Formats: sequence, C-alpha cells, structure tokens
Amino acid sequence: MIRQAKELDIPAIVRLEEQAFNHSLGYTFYVHEILHNPSSIIYICELNHQIIGVLGIRLLDENAEILNLVVDENYRAQGYGKKLMNEAFKVLEEKQIKNFTLEVRKSNKQARRFYESLGFNNIYIRKDYYENEDAYVYIKEVTL
Ligand SMILES: CC(C)(COP(=O)(O)OP(=O)(O)OC[C@H]1O[C@@H](n2cnc3c(N)ncnc32)[C@H](O)[C@@H]1OP(=O)(O)O)[C@@H](O)C(=O)NCCC(=O)NCCS
Repeated sequence: MIRQAKELDIPAIVRLEEQAFNHSLGYTFYVHEILHNPSSIIYICELNHQIIGVLGIRLLDENAEILNLVVDENYRAQGYGKKLMNEAFKVLEEKQIKNFTLEVRKSNKQARRFYESLGFNNIYIRKDYYENEDAYVYIKEVTL
C-alpha cells in the first residue's frame, strides 16, 4: 500500500536511507518536510505493516523534483519503486506540473535504468556534483 508519510514513520524512513546509502537526509529534515513544508510530499510503501520504500518529491510552480527514492534491498525489482512513482505521477498530472526532474549518480546504473524505463531522459551531466562523482540530471515531461 502506498500512502503519505506521517511523523511516526520517520525512524523507519531514516533506517531505509541509511541501509541504502550509509547516509540519510535525517530525522529533522523529514519532520520539516512532513509537518511544515506544503511543497513536499513524502510517500511510503508499506507491506505487512513494514515500511519498504520511500519517495520524496517537492513541487515548485510548474516543476517537481525527486528528493529521494529508496526501496528496501530485499524488495527490489518487484515493482514497488514503480508503484511509488506512479502515485507521484497521478498527483503531478492533477496539479498540471510540467516537468519532473531528478539527479542520480553516474555509477548508479540500476537507478538510471529504472528512471529511463519510466520515460525520464538524461538532459545533462553536473560535473563533480557529488564528491568525486558526476550527477546525471534526468527530466520527464508530465503534462504539456
Ligand atoms: C532505484 C530503485 C528505487 C528501483 O526500485 P525497484 O522497486 O527495485 O524498481 P521496480 O521493481 O519498480 O522496477 C521498475 C523498472 O525499473 C527497471 N529496473 C529496476 N531494477 C532494475 C535492475 N536491477 N536492473 C535493470 N533494470 C531495473 C526495470 O525496467 C523495471 O521494470 P520491469 O520490472 O517491468 O522490468 C531501487 O533499486 C533502489 O532503492 N535503489 C537504491 C537506492 C537508489 O539508488 N535510489 C535512487 C537514488 S536517485
């Protein structure tokens, strides 16, 4: 089941990020995004009362960007990432958002293929955006 995150979900979200990246955007960040930032939507994917995925997006005028996307490694390649993204696409269409963008590490081929499978196109490369690594910037036109 996909639903919007609540404050109580934050520890599980932080754990998921730490497992995937050895780093999290952090508890305080999520408190702000979930409780105080009307431009943000944080979705979680729940299975048997366990949080197995998170997708954060931020909406700014006609554009939306991905803050983060993680699926628990035990549940990858089973369609949960796509389910989270489809939930976001629905809202972006309703809100007439034009462009959906994200940055991803050049070396993260799995995520790059994932985004490409959803119709995102690589538009440019931000040199050394991450420490010693380029970012690939992807965009998808949601509504024309
Ligand atoms: C990227 C990520 C969120 C994808 O989630 P997922 O649940 O595994 O993806 P899905 O099962 O929904 O896959 C959807 C499509 O993506 C592609 N895809 C997913 N995993 C893939 C893999 N390992 N290799 C190739 N293509 C893959 C496929 O085209 C797939 O479609 P299909 O199942 O019809 O073939 C997940 O791999 C993840 O959490 N990675 C670590 C964190 C990360 O890198 N996040 C992105 C940071 S920008």
